[in-house]
Amino acid sequence: MITNFAKSNELRKKAASLIPGGAHTYSKGDDQFPQLSPHSIVKGKGARIWDVDGNEFVDWGMGLTSVILGHAYDPIVEVIKKELDNGVNFIRPSFIEAELAEQISMQIPSAQMVKFAKNGSNATTSAVKLSRAYTGKEVVLRCIDQPFFSIDDWFIGDTDISSGVTEETKSNTKHFKYNDIENLKNVIELNKEKGIACLIIEPAATEEPNEGYLQAIRDLCTREHIVLIFDEVVSGFRFHPKGAQYLYGVTPDLSTFGKAMANGYSISALVGKKEIMELGGLEHNKERVFLLSTTYGGEPHHLRAAQKTIEILNQNNYAVTKHIWDTGKKIKDAFNALARQFELTEFVNISGIDCRPYFYFKDNYMRTLFQQEMIKQGILMQGIVPSFSHRESEVSQTIEAFEKALNVLQYAIETNKVEKLLIGNPIKPVFRKYN
Ligand SMILES: Cc1ncc(COP(=O)(O)O)c(C=O)c1O
Repeated sequence: MITNFAKSNELRKKAASLIPGGAHTYSKGDDQFPQLSPHSIVKGKGARIWDVDGNEFVDWGMGLTSVILGHAYDPIVEVIKKELDNGVNFIRPSFIEAELAEQISMQIPSAQMVKFAKNGSNATTSAVKLSRAYTGKEVVLRCIDQPFFSIDDWFIGDTDISSGVTEETKSNTKHFKYNDIENLKNVIELNKEKGIACLIIEPAATEEPNEGYLQAIRDLCTREHIVLIFDEVVSGFRFHPKGAQYLYGVTPDLSTFGKAMANGYSISALVGKKEIMELGGLEHNKERVFLLSTTYGGEPHHLRAAQKTIEILNQNNYAVTKHIWDTGKKIKDAFNALARQFELTEFVNISGIDCRPYFYFKDNYMRTLFQQEMIKQGILMQGIVPSFSHRESEVSQTIEAFEKALNVLQYAIETNKVEKLLIGNPIKPVFRKYN
């Protein structure tokens, strides 16, 4: 049983005193994990990671969904190492930039032009900016049921942690409900006069789109001259190698990619219709748009990682994608069967789409106690992010751990001891006003 986090605890304190939030991503922060958990990771290989105390875990987080093939996946590490010998940044573009842009334009249905950056937020924010420049309008409609689109003010201003964002910026972002086309029609009517630049949505996140829903959005946007943006930072390359837009058969005007695109290496992409994208270019007579210009946007070794990842995703009839969906389904089915067996379905379940399952817990005390008990057995998870490296041994270890953790949870609920058995505080939502 894993209970020694001595070195992690020292680093936890040091990080909290030196780094606001103790980490460089809020969802990796201490408030997102039980107290009895590793703080600092040393290395990962495949679907496993090791912490500073030498504890080994099955990792179901996989770099916030970015590591689709597995940690330190040999074919990706090889191309990176090889490219590093050629240097990383030059006075003019690397030849790989146009090569990868071409590969992506052949891969993703909406990608007539492609622009690279390092983070998903850079890509989504530039999609919003480009839409505003193209339409001359300012309002952004965003899906309220999806957790995150960007670290930038147009999005953060519309969350509970909006301190520092101007009222004017806040007033330009409005929201609509997922899978509810009538709600969207009403929101469009209410904001039409002010002028709607774009609508941004993940084609699918926690639930599948209803039959015809995405097409109905497409039609509404075309009719109302609203730029349709699909945020595929998570769904891209995970739901299908050609994107969720291919899977669901609906083509947006602009779309954004990141995460799984290079198996965790830092690259993102804004892609879309030439007519809109070229406003950021040098070959038109209209007012210029300053679109994504970053020192590190075209790092050759990260471009190589993306090329290789996409090549692997396309192989053997999309074997990686199939494996990910199958693994997610195995975990979902096993967990839900155990929840039924322990008569806990009122308190816990896994739902969501098979390639990206989500846990439901009745409250955060139960969620945290469950995670605490999983960690003791060497399983580190927030949701379930299957990768190509999650194999039978990881799946069976996880299911065995589910059984033990649900046993503890059942006892805790029956005896009213959930809070007592939890060491430390429960996990808190990232988007909250006060600590
Ligand atoms: C759907 C979605 N869009 C955009 C982003 C931002 O990506 P990044 O963290 O690379 O800036 C995220 C990050 O989690 C995301 O989940």
